[in-house]
Amino acid sequence: MCQYNGHFVYLAIFNYVIKITMRVCSIIGYKGESLAAPLLVTCLQKMEYRGYDSVGIGTINDGKVSVRKGVGRVEDVDSTLLLRILPGRIGIGHTRWATHGRVTEANAHPHTSCNGEIAVVHNGIIQNYSQLKSQLLMKGHVFKSETDSEVIAHLLEDDYKETGDLRGAISNTSKKLAGAFSFIAAFSDGTIAGARFDEPLIVGISKDGYYISSDVVGFLNYTDRAIFLDNRDIVILKGSGMEMITFDGAPVVRPVTQVAWEFGGIDKGTYAHFTIKEINEQVETIVKSGRGQESKIEEVSEMLKLAPFIYFTGSGTSYHCALVAKNLLAKYGKRKSDAIVSSEFQYLVNDIERDSVIVAISQSGETADVLEVIKKAKTLGSKIISIVNVPTSSLARLSDVSIHMNCGPEIGVAATKSFTSQLTILYAIVDSLSGGVIGLEDQKYKLQNAVKELVERQRLIEQIAEEIKDVKDIYVLGRSIHYPIALEGALKIKELSYVHAEGIPAGELKHGPLALIDRNSCILVLNPNDSTFDDVKANAHEIKARGASLIGIGNSPSDVYDRFITIPEMDEVFYPLLEVIPFQMIAYYLALEKDANPDYPRNLAKSVTVK
Ligand code: AGP
Repeated sequence: MCQYNGHFVYLAIFNYVIKITMRVCSIIGYKGESLAAPLLVTCLQKMEYRGYDSVGIGTINDGKVSVRKGVGRVEDVDSTLLLRILPGRIGIGHTRWATHGRVTEANAHPHTSCNGEIAVVHNGIIQNYSQLKSQLLMKGHVFKSETDSEVIAHLLEDDYKETGDLRGAISNTSKKLAGAFSFIAAFSDGTIAGARFDEPLIVGISKDGYYISSDVVGFLNYTDRAIFLDNRDIVILKGSGMEMITFDGAPVVRPVTQVAWEFGGIDKGTYAHFTIKEINEQVETIVKSGRGQESKIEEVSEMLKLAPFIYFTGSGTSYHCALVAKNLLAKYGKRKSDAIVSSEFQYLVNDIERDSVIVAISQSGETADVLEVIKKAKTLGSKIISIVNVPTSSLARLSDVSIHMNCGPEIGVAATKSFTSQLTILYAIVDSLSGGVIGLEDQKYKLQNAVKELVERQRLIEQIAEEIKDVKDIYVLGRSIHYPIALEGALKIKELSYVHAEGIPAGELKHGPLALIDRNSCILVLNPNDSTFDDVKANAHEIKARGASLIGIGNSPSDVYDRFITIPEMDEVFYPLLEVIPFQMIAYYLALEKDANPDYPRNLAKSVTVK
């Protein structure tokens, strides 16, 4: 039982439905010599790309916990609530992204215990929160939010009361939680503690103090020395020292890693948005990808040569890359494989051949659906290859061989440069496996010039975006290796501009989708000069006959198209790498036409660390 508002509150099981709040949030803690609040605001701004519904900060000063939180982006909440003026040199912060449950001030973090002496920020899901909450309500705890996270603050309060030992309380509470989580708790005595299970948590060590964060990006402006906690690790910052133990209380030592400084330099430069900056960066990243990793690429190609079964997997854009990879491997590497989207693969993975090789593709390396597949496959003896942009990510660390995309931090929620980087690495792998049939190295500079030419088509793309801004439905057609690009193009348009868009294999049009086409439809057609050219052009004529507007993307303009975006001539194998760029740009400029923020599409998060 705990006292609240001057009354003893007895158990009540309220008959309203408490919605589960899934989140892909950022959490950060700081203890050191600097003022915590302004620092935490800056750290949260850096990590905002992960989640951006609401934000909150809690600091400790003179034995008192102060919390301020609100709905909106960090900058907006800070300017109305003045988060940065909270006093103290110890604090925690949070940005939230909710898919279920309301976005309210009460549901924003930090959450506090009944006695107000503990504040908690959390990332992940507490699966058993309703049982825990019932038990806590029976004991008289009063909840102020609808979230699962709040149970952590009350459990810590209860366990602390029972054991009288803060260390014991943190480990008892951590052991009671089921699900995937990481949390940071701040106590009124000035202690900060973090615990993790299946969600990342990293300690940053700087000259003036310690950070605990869900993402290295959070503290990279201040330090590049990091400790990556393992599952069931707890870190406690008490006094001026740091202690690490397991959930069972045993001391542990984890190595200090030097993180690439490059990740610290995250800003938009002269660009209006990260998304357009990252689209333009492809001129450089297309040649940088895979550089310095030639021996790993060779090792992977040997593994694929010997593998009896090969699966490519990933989510969203990374899955589209997997589809292109399957196609490339069949055509140029003469090897059969399958590409399965991770959220579906997790139900099949127990039935795959034991000696399979799985190639997992993920920008973040933290996507829950991908990790689920990999963890299951590993227990069955599969070999894991990954292609990631974050070399310290969970996926990289679970893999037998991991190749780094090396395209720099991608902040825009829509994947752009990471797609072309992961694809370039897959080209390199297939090239190595096939004895150089693709000739990637010789073509890289031509490829770079072609990307440059495409990003310079800004004016044309802006005009197209302006012309199609009012269409309700967009269909993107492609055949063979271009079909995954049609899917990717449609995904970009959906997520950035909120216009309904669908990628369709061009040959399937006559089997149903043609019924949808009329004068109001807009069709984007991938029609490059390769074996698909004539068939796709015939499909374009079928559409033209139904009065729809047609935009062609390829090498040879034709009267059938109302508008045509020319792709520079190259060996046909490289067209997928190039033809995706106009789609990224159309989606970006369409978002601007619609007054949507392309960097932060509604309801989406950059790394989806929940299933
Ligand atoms: C792409 O634009 C998306 N926002 C999304 O589909 C993304 O590709 C997907 O969530 C996978 O992320 P990952 O590459 O970090 O695993």
